Amino acid sequence: MAKTIHILNGPNLNLLGTREPEIYGSTTLASIEDACRAFCQAHDADVVFRQSNEEGELVNWIQEAAVKSDGLILNAGAYTHTSVALHDAIKASGIKTIEVHLSNIFQREEFRHHSFISPVATGMICGFGAHGYELAISALLNQLNSN
Ligand code: DQA
Repeated sequence: MAKTIHILNGPNLNLLGTREPEIYGSTTLASIEDACRAFCQAHDADVVFRQSNEEGELVNWIQEAAVKSDGLILNAGAYTHTSVALHDAIKASGIKTIEVHLSNIFQREEFRHHSFISPVATGMICGFGAHGYELAISALLNQLNSN
């Protein structure tokens, strides 16, 4: 049966394309969404793709993903490094989660080295730019289809 995955994006990721392109590349979030939709279609999966600048909205969407989908891909942006609420939402809902970051957060400022998401995620993909989303979808579907 076709799997459904939710892909959630946190604060400032709506600015991709113009936001610090030397770090995040020049691909817009709309282009990333298009690529994710094409990749999911090719792999017989349904996708919900969203972005919010608000922590509470992301909490609501994680809870919704746990009810309506088979797995979650999350780029929590800066909330990665601050949000106990997102950590708790993933843990409480039990949704299988792959963490993704465009940049290699470990090569950057020290405050980006800690993630509140990693302890409750199956795994993390970072440093591959926009392509990381396809890598994350591939990893998630591989896990879902082998269970
Ligand atoms: C990011 C990395 C975070 O440290 C940063 O706050 C972001 C984007 C990434 O995709 O590389 O907003 O999650």
